[in-house]
Amino acid sequence: MPFTSERLKHFTESVIREMTRVSERYGAINLSQGFPDFDPPAELIEAARKALSDGYHQYAVTWGSPRFRRALARKQSSWMGLDLDPDAHIVVTCGSTEAMMVALMTVCNPGERVIVFSPFYENYGADTILSGAEPIYVPLHPPEFQFHPDELRNAFKQGVKALVLCNPANPSGKVFTREELQYIADLAQEFDAFVITDEVYEHIVYAPHRHTYMAALPGMFERTLSCSSLSKTYSITGWRLGYIIAASEVIAEARKVHDFLTVGAAAPLQEAAVTALGFPLSYYEQLQAGYTRRRDLFLGYLDAAGLPYTVPQGAYYVMVDCSRFQVTDDRAFCRWLAKEIGVAAVPGSSFFHEPIHHFIRFHFAKQEKTLMESGERLLRLKAGPDIPVDLPKNRED
Ligand SMILES: Cc1ncc(COP(=O)(O)O)c(C=O)c1O
Repeated sequence: MPFTSERLKHFTESVIREMTRVSERYGAINLSQGFPDFDPPAELIEAARKALSDGYHQYAVTWGSPRFRRALARKQSSWMGLDLDPDAHIVVTCGSTEAMMVALMTVCNPGERVIVFSPFYENYGADTILSGAEPIYVPLHPPEFQFHPDELRNAFKQGVKALVLCNPANPSGKVFTREELQYIADLAQEFDAFVITDEVYEHIVYAPHRHTYMAALPGMFERTLSCSSLSKTYSITGWRLGYIIAASEVIAEARKVHDFLTVGAAAPLQEAAVTALGFPLSYYEQLQAGYTRRRDLFLGYLDAAGLPYTVPQGAYYVMVDCSRFQVTDDRAFCRWLAKEIGVAAVPGSSFFHEPIHHFIRFHFAKQEKTLMESGERLLRLKAGPDIPVDLPKNRED
């Protein structure tokens, strides 16, 4: 049999998606893979039904249906404080997942270096390898997940083509301050690098923190590829609608990559999502309020269970420090947690480049009753239940 690609030897299957399978196997509450267990707004579901009966069944324009791009340009111009042209500044993709891959393939030649903050959303590791780029990891030091300015400058000095910025950040829950973003922007300008943002959680930010768009900082629009999606903002992770916003010269190139990767995002769902993009400000306020309630509810249970964590400033994840359990194999610990406690989490080591094994990540994009049930289960950890020394080692435990 011929050999498969060498590229694929450098990363494994997604640990996050693996934990969803583990969760299903044990009937645990799945707080691993980040997607809601509640429906999107009813108007949106109705709009999808209508789009299907109105005949939107064939390919849309490759880089996004004109109505979708117009609605997106209107909404993002207002949130980002930019004057976006739907015909020049946007390519619509299959989620931010495709957007990030397209962005890296658009800016990087094989072997060029890309800065990735660690801990990082696990796709970025695979994205850099698949695009031929070479990642340079810069630590976000726990528990505050701050970068050290000198470490970042030193990374830029190695000659980089781009920096990947997840803001608000998964898994750390960090929201970068304007000052931090300005520091990154100054380095990108000094070293003539692109910034590729992943802003899927742009509308899930907890007061008093505020989201600042990198592309809106002075001089940064020309060198920023702003990737985001509708997945999290409208609770439609399965619709696979995302986009890149960038300067017209960059978008012209990105459209080529996107065209040959996927041809386009689902036509009827683009049509339906025009409804979401027209939602009033109150929708986003309610979204924030809902997630703030869920976050506070879940953190209350972590407090009660005696589990230390870093308070998330944005997104819907919390990193829990499990040092107390003296666990050295966080993957095995997470399988044990799913099986014996009935709550699935993601082992923190799948997000860190450094050998850090004492964090696990929960997400709280769940109905309050689901969070209460999982919280009650986690309370069993307060007494410090006997955690077997021989935690299950393989995937088929
Ligand atoms: C940081 C981040 N980027 C991208 C995605 C995937 O987004 P999409 O559904 O738009 O592909 C996720 C999903 O969890 C995420 O956490």
